[in-house]
Amino acid sequence: MSFTAPIQLPGLTLDTQWYRRAVFYEVMVRSFVDSNGDGSGDLAGLVGKLDYLQWLGVDALWIPPIYASPLRDGGYDVSDFKSVLPEFGTVDEFKDLVTKAHERNMRIVMDYPLNHTSDAHDWFQQSRLDPHGPFGDYYVWSDSDQKYPNIRVIFVDTEESNWAFDPVRRQFYFHRFFSHQPDLNFDNPAVREATIDTVRFWLDMGVDGIRLDAIPYLFESEDGNGEGEPKTHEFIKEIRAIVDKEYPGRVLIAEANQWPQEVVSFFGTEEEPECHMAFDFPVMPRIFYSLRSQQAGELVRLLKETTEVPPGAAWGVFLRNHDELTLEMVSEEYRQAMYGWYAYDPRMRSNVGIRRRLAPLLDNSRAELELAHALLFSLQGSPFLYYGDEIGMGDNIWLPDRDSSRTPMQWTPDRNAGFSHADPGKLYLPVVQSLVYNYNLINVESQLAQSRSLLHWIRNVIHVRKGHPTFGLGSLRILDTNNESVLAFVREYEGSGSQFGDSPETVLCVFSFAHNPVSVEISAPDFVGATTYDLFGGSQFPTISEDGSLQLTLGTQSFYWLHVGATHFVGGRT
Ligand code: NOJ
Repeated sequence: MSFTAPIQLPGLTLDTQWYRRAVFYEVMVRSFVDSNGDGSGDLAGLVGKLDYLQWLGVDALWIPPIYASPLRDGGYDVSDFKSVLPEFGTVDEFKDLVTKAHERNMRIVMDYPLNHTSDAHDWFQQSRLDPHGPFGDYYVWSDSDQKYPNIRVIFVDTEESNWAFDPVRRQFYFHRFFSHQPDLNFDNPAVREATIDTVRFWLDMGVDGIRLDAIPYLFESEDGNGEGEPKTHEFIKEIRAIVDKEYPGRVLIAEANQWPQEVVSFFGTEEEPECHMAFDFPVMPRIFYSLRSQQAGELVRLLKETTEVPPGAAWGVFLRNHDELTLEMVSEEYRQAMYGWYAYDPRMRSNVGIRRRLAPLLDNSRAELELAHALLFSLQGSPFLYYGDEIGMGDNIWLPDRDSSRTPMQWTPDRNAGFSHADPGKLYLPVVQSLVYNYNLINVESQLAQSRSLLHWIRNVIHVRKGHPTFGLGSLRILDTNNESVLAFVREYEGSGSQFGDSPETVLCVFSFAHNPVSVEISAPDFVGATTYDLFGGSQFPTISEDGSLQLTLGTQSFYWLHVGATHFVGGRT
């Protein structure tokens, strides 16, 4: 069907590039609020917390899969792409979520694991039973499990091969992830059509974006490694063309855990665009590396490698998400260092990564939590928060796989942390009761009551960021410093010259990873004579001297966001 959606959805402001200024929040429906006492979070529960999310300053929600699913991979194992899992709610309740979010000028991004299905999907059941039937060619079948030898195994903890034998069809089927998640065969035009049909189904319902899960892996080839094959890019272009034509203002977000040069290819080109956004996988582990090594060098090197992106493209920056903190994008030497610092107990590891939440990773250090978030909110791209990290929730490494950091949201010190009124034994996962992160101590209610809590701090930073479009729209340029623990960059935005009609602005961001106070000289020759002002309180800071240097002192693991300008700047929240 061809349906031309109005750009201005009910309650939403007109801005087709809204995602460049947005603060995203990943919320697992199962983990957020249980409205009916069945022990699992649901859509109605989430709707009831939209006011909280709006208060926090969230502009868009990323919702991991809510489709029908046996839930053997957190819902990324889908058995019907056009229905909602009953324990989460109904399609009508989902529509209600979209409407209520839009009323608050908040957007909804659906997660779409298009690469594979659950083996419980009817397509797979028919495919294995009837090789010559309409679904016979829906999956990647082979008589040998030796095909595609260049394709690596991703879930190394559980899978030895990308092939599994199906005793019914008596053939092997290909799977990039768990063996209960057969890969769809994108060489089959019917599969591509069914995919586009699903995209339209949810966009017609008013969702504002789609996270394209595991996007590099759609096509396989004999010689390639099955990651970003040319045919995969062709197909994304096709989806993007449909979005541009029929659903302007909606976004496609690439989940491609790859090196910068490869991730960037998922933006496509100006003439042939692919995704509007892509997660910045390479920058994330380097933030954690810098925090422990006290060295800014790895981040400096990466950020200096400016990868050109087409106009309108944006990175999605994140510290944590529902998966393990992946260490695929660092060298073996650095990976071992990271395991030593952050995953000293083998139970904390998962595949090539660490299955812990942000606060425990940072040992609940308020300084580190603030520093990490200051980076998240000032690097180039749009920040993605993970539910619960705004209150510094803990994890439970005794739970299997990535469930360690998918436990119920902690709202109050009451039963089940206010998540559910069910019998505690009925919860989909137990609430965190550890010594440091017990829900009695760490919960939204108590943090709302403390003006200096992490929650209030994060809300404040979000609002400061929102007052300065430069963070979302400006360029990023590294400045040299004489201290290897200090990272300094300027974010510059031409302002009024742009389509957004804002004022031009330069913000200098300085971060010290040192575990003691430091002084630093920053080289800023382009800003000789400019005075700097703190973006939070408006205080005047030193003027950049005649030789182009700026002398600053920073406390242990601290940062500054400084407005660079000749005239006095009135800072603070806008
Ligand atoms: C990426 C998702 O983020 C992850 O949770 C999932 O296990 C894999 N894709 C497989 O769908």
